[in-house]
Amino acid sequence: MYSIMAHYCTWIRKDDHHPDGLVLAVSTLLVGVIAAVAPLPGGAVRTVFEFPNDTYIENLAVRSNGQVLTCDLSKPQLDLFDPAAVGRSKAILVHEFPNSLGLSGIAEYEPDVFAVISGNFSFATGDVGIGSWQIWGVDLRNVGIVSRGGRKQVFPPPKVHLIASVAPAHFLNGISLLSQEHGTLLVGDVNGGAIYRVDVPTGHFEVVLNNTFTAAVPAAPFPLAGVNGVHVRNGDTLYFTNIGKGTFSRVRIHQDGTPAGPITTIAHTFGPPDQFDDFTFDCEGNAFLVTGGGNSIEMITPHGHREVIIAGNVNSTAIAEPTSCAFGRGPFDKNVLYVTTAGGLAVPVDGDEIIGGQLVAVVTRSKGSSC
Ligand SMILES: *[C@@H]1O[C@H](CO)[C@@H](O)[C@H](O)[C@H]1NC(C)=O
Ligand SMILES: *[C@@H]1O[C@H](CO)[C@@H](O)[C@H](O)[C@H]1NC(C)=O
Ligand SMILES: *[C@@H]1O[C@H](CO)[C@@H](O)[C@H](O)[C@H]1NC(C)=O
Ligand SMILES: *[C@@H]1O[C@H](CO)[C@@H](O)[C@H](O)[C@H]1NC(C)=O
Repeated sequence: MYSIMAHYCTWIRKDDHHPDGLVLAVSTLLVGVIAAVAPLPGGAVRTVFEFPNDTYIENLAVRSNGQVLTCDLSKPQLDLFDPAAVGRSKAILVHEFPNSLGLSGIAEYEPDVFAVISGNFSFATGDVGIGSWQIWGVDLRNVGIVSRGGRKQVFPPPKVHLIASVAPAHFLNGISLLSQEHGTLLVGDVNGGAIYRVDVPTGHFEVVLNNTFTAAVPAAPFPLAGVNGVHVRNGDTLYFTNIGKGTFSRVRIHQDGTPAGPITTIAHTFGPPDQFDDFTFDCEGNAFLVTGGGNSIEMITPHGHREVIIAGNVNSTAIAEPTSCAFGRGPFDKNVLYVTTAGGLAVPVDGDEIIGGQLVAVVTRSKGSSC
């Protein structure tokens, strides 16, 4: 299963020794080659920040001011980045969560207020931490970045409160706002193979979907793995991936998150080592899925009519084991897809390369909002 070992890195990494401009120029050349076959070019890839080795960055959310929040599954830290800042972006710690080994998901549920999942998944033993999964509210309203003694930090410290302890869950992972008005979230249990609705005001939770589409199956190198990314669109349609089964599905839902119709599978992965992990949408309804062990970003048109790789390559560490993605929300980066990566920690690139988890920026021809 998971073992955090030292792996020899033979790939020439785009990294700290090169100015970003050079990296961009090189990636643009590569993209030029790929563009000859892919109908959707763009795809210049830039590393915003690389965490130390053995860091598994699992999820992200973008604030309305353009700052990017990331969460670490290998450490219970929520970090903040300012892509608009002059100079290299650094991770600024927002909050360290008690009693947990890591964080697996983030979703904005009120403007600038985020739900964050913590729990005890262990990379050392593979134990998923049944009984340890909790959802927290992190209020970032009026929380900014200040410089203190040359170090950047958030100020004032955000208000953090426990929303729910979801004791029956095996391994909570994907998370989405269901209704802001009702304060409801949908949260996927990747190991338990079900989706819960969680009510923020009361902490009440219940299973809303548990069937063959969400079910977990053995999927090396993971133990049982099922429903992964979950995202609600227009309040009435739930999209979700199943990482074990390699599927991306859609279902109409009622206001309480329960299904209101049949489930349709829109797309399948291109096959191993591709996986469907988390995803997001552009303003035209195209889905952008990260392919995990496939080290790439795949775009799928609204009804699954076309699947194309828009960035990354199975043999490259440019996007090493992506876990999630979200479009920029700042004034100048609405076409930038921010991607979190695991660095190949679970599925090494080309079989043996592991680098630190990263926050990566991919230039696309799409926009997350205001088409
Ligand atoms: C990360 O691991 C690789 C492979 O073991 C090693 O070559 C590299 O020096 C490590 N990087 C850091 C920052 O420790
Ligand atoms: C996570 O594991 C640690 C160490 O075993 C334990 O002390 C802690 O209570 C667990 N957290 C939860 C929320 O169960
Ligand atoms: C999902 O359904 C299966 C079989 O029908 C059941 O064993 C399992 O406990 C259910 N899971 C949840 C979280 O309700
Ligand atoms: C990746 O590398 C393998 C083995 O070296 C090769 O067969 C394959 O064509 C490469 N794939 C891509 C997309 O470059």
